[in-house]
Amino acid sequence: MSDILQQLEIRRDEARMGGGQRRIDVQHSKGKLTARERLEVLLDEGSFEEFDMFVAHRCVDFGMDKQKYPGDGVVTGWGTINGRMVYVYSQDFTVLGGSLSATHAQKICKIMDMAMRNGAPVIGLNDSGGARIQEGVDALGGYADVFQKNVLASGVVPQISVIMGPCAGGAVYSPAMTDFIFMVRDSSYMFVTGPDVVKTVTNEVVTAEELGGARTHTTKSSVADGAYDNDMEALYEVRRLFDFLPLNNREKAPTRPFNDTPSRVESSLDTLVPGNPNAPYDMSELVRKLADEGDFFEIQAEFAKNILTGFIRLEGKTVGVVANQPMVLAGCLDIDASRKAARFVRFCDAFEIPILTLVDVPGFLPGTGQEYGGVIKHGAKLLFAYGEATVPKVTVIVRKAYGGAYDVMASKHLRGDFNYAWPTAQIAVMGASGAVEIIHRADLGDADKIAAHTADYEARFASPFVAAERGFIDEVILPHNTRLRVTRAFASLRGKQLKNPWKKHDNIPL
Ligand code: HXC
Repeated sequence: MSDILQQLEIRRDEARMGGGQRRIDVQHSKGKLTARERLEVLLDEGSFEEFDMFVAHRCVDFGMDKQKYPGDGVVTGWGTINGRMVYVYSQDFTVLGGSLSATHAQKICKIMDMAMRNGAPVIGLNDSGGARIQEGVDALGGYADVFQKNVLASGVVPQISVIMGPCAGGAVYSPAMTDFIFMVRDSSYMFVTGPDVVKTVTNEVVTAEELGGARTHTTKSSVADGAYDNDMEALYEVRRLFDFLPLNNREKAPTRPFNDTPSRVESSLDTLVPGNPNAPYDMSELVRKLADEGDFFEIQAEFAKNILTGFIRLEGKTVGVVANQPMVLAGCLDIDASRKAARFVRFCDAFEIPILTLVDVPGFLPGTGQEYGGVIKHGAKLLFAYGEATVPKVTVIVRKAYGGAYDVMASKHLRGDFNYAWPTAQIAVMGASGAVEIIHRADLGDADKIAAHTADYEARFASPFVAAERGFIDEVILPHNTRLRVTRAFASLRGKQLKNPWKKHDNIPL
């Protein structure tokens, strides 16, 4: 009996060594952790339960029958993060470059099926040379099987991808279909075709880092939602994000103990909005002052900075925040901001996370670049996302809410539950000078008349009261009380029930 037990330990030790000490050392020399070390950081100590440790590939071509590694290049299983369950897979670059074989794919699909059945998120740690070249179409089929699971799991359980090494070719499409992608600076990259192919086809000379590194995907393409300096930091931040999320679409996000008072008065907010209506201020200050303990987990912080998206907690409960940022492009909505915020709103709605919208928007960004780029369709994504969302929606108009952007930003008309405004709010079709130029064109040569018209327009619309008279604004609130008002609003909405008409699915303008 003791022999048998010993044999098991020997087999386990062999599997734990992945591709062997030499390759583990190479992995470390690149500043990267191994697949198993990463899981140790990501999961609560001692919580990891492994599946399929002894699974091996079945390929015999190209001498592969002599290159078998138990586990076949991916460590899969489940564990906990701060006590809450999560399914994980972690690709092992030391085994055949973490390449994906049919059996490697089956292991990933198995834990994804379990995640959906048992209602727990999936976190994938990607570090792979792509399809196992020796397996040919079997490997391609394996990828497609994973893609199909990603589609089915979307909106059922949160899916998070962390790119911690290469992720190239069709392999990128699995992370692309998950809810969040995080990358590690300088050691990870994602592209559909690599620098060599790019050079051959388009004659562009570009490094892997420039083409698909963390900087590219967090600032230019918006493929990734965040980037971190090393494996440890990335995994710690994923743990932090995980704590904001529900386990599945049938459960609410967890309530965390908090050391903050809901009625905390923030006197500094009374002077946040500058006297000059065109002067910028930092909207993230408002977000942090409203949040429990000032904790804001920002999503896509480096992309479309004219809009902020991310998670905070109020009374320990997760709230998704969307906020125009007047520091960038005066807070205008444009193609990038609309896409960024629309995807965030849809995530929140899919997983029953209430949405707080902070508005200071002078309208949609004008220009041929925007129109040719399809701002109509992209802007409509955000409009659509807010309009279909049935989660509790609380909106605070801080300053400008002009034109179509007023409608879009979770207005009363899009089933906003609480629509508050600060006394500094200006709700109008457009700013005073633009409006006067159009409706008093005949007086344009007379500076006094134009000044009078402008003053008249401002008196009428440069305040929240016309909208409040119509009930489009439920209440004009004092800035320093905003945390209390918003917290109470969400508390009152905990029993909210709202259903959209039955449909197979909608047809959001993609
Ligand atoms: C089999 C692979 C492999 C692969 C790497 N290896 N990629 N084995 N299939 N796809 C093996 C190597 O032979 C090597 O084995 C070990 O992994 C480490 O690879 P190195 O090249 O030594 O590492 P490095 O220098 O760090 O370069 C990593 C790399 C490179 C950039 C990922 O290996 C590479 O270019 N690989 C091929 C990438 C590729 O073209 N994949 C197919 C993409 S298309 P030893 O035994 O020496 O340790 C695709 C289609 C998916 O994925 C379609 C889905 C729809």
